[in-house]
Amino acid sequence: MQIVSPSLLAANFGNLERDIDMINRSNADWLHLDVMDGVFVPNISFGFPVLKAVARLCKKPLDVHLMIVQPEKFIKQVADLGAMMMNVHYEACTHLHRTIQEIHDAGMKAGVTLNPSSPVCLLEDIIRDVDMVLLMTVNPGFGGQKFIEHSLDKVRQLRAMIERTGSHALIEVDGGVNATTSVQLAEAGTDVLVAGSFVFGAENPEERINQLRNL
Ligand code: DX5
Ligand code: ZN
Repeated sequence: MQIVSPSLLAANFGNLERDIDMINRSNADWLHLDVMDGVFVPNISFGFPVLKAVARLCKKPLDVHLMIVQPEKFIKQVADLGAMMMNVHYEACTHLHRTIQEIHDAGMKAGVTLNPSSPVCLLEDIIRDVDMVLLMTVNPGFGGQKFIEHSLDKVRQLRAMIERTGSHALIEVDGGVNATTSVQLAEAGTDVLVAGSFVFGAENPEERINQLRNL
C-alpha cells in the first residue's frame, strides 16, 4: 500500500477546477503542488494566487513542494493555505534545522527534499527531525522526464538510515513514476508516490491512482 500524491503540474491549467474535482472524487491521498521560481530550477510554475484557489477547491491534504531559493521566507504563506506538508530542498536551505523548526512551529509537517546529485548521507543529522524525505527521481523543474535508475539505491539507503536511527520520516519519490518504476520503488521501500503525467495523462486517472495505491 502506497500513499499517492498526484502532481497538479500535469493537470490541465485551462480547467483546474475539473481536474481538482477528479482528485476529490478519487482515492488520491494527497495533492502535490510544485512551486518553481525560475532561479532554483530553470522553470516557473505557479504562485500563491493560484495556490489559494487550489486550496479552496481541494478537499485532500496539500503536499507543497517548493523548488525555490530561500523557501523560509514563505512558511507563513504556505501555512495560511492550510497545507499539511511543506517540502523544502536541502540544496536551498543554509539553516535547514531552523527552517524545519519554523515549519513545525507554523503547524505543518516538514519534508526535506534531495536533488538527484545530493547523497542520502547528507541527511544523517536531520533525519530524526523531519516528517518526510522527498527524493527527486528526476532533476526538478519539469514533468514528464525519464526516471533516474540510481534513485532505487537511494531509496534503499534512506530506508536503512531511517531504520537505524529510529526516525519516523516517510519516504516520498517524485519524477518519472509510472507502471514500471512504481513497482520497483515500492519494492525498494517508498511510502509515498508522486505522479504527474502518469495520472493526469491517462484516459482514466482514477484507475491509475488506484493502481499506484495498491502497490
Ligand atoms: C518536477 C516536479 C514533479 C513533476 C513530476 O520538478 O517536482 O512533481 O510534476 O512529474 P512526472 O510524474 O510527470 O515526472
Ligand atoms: Zn514535486
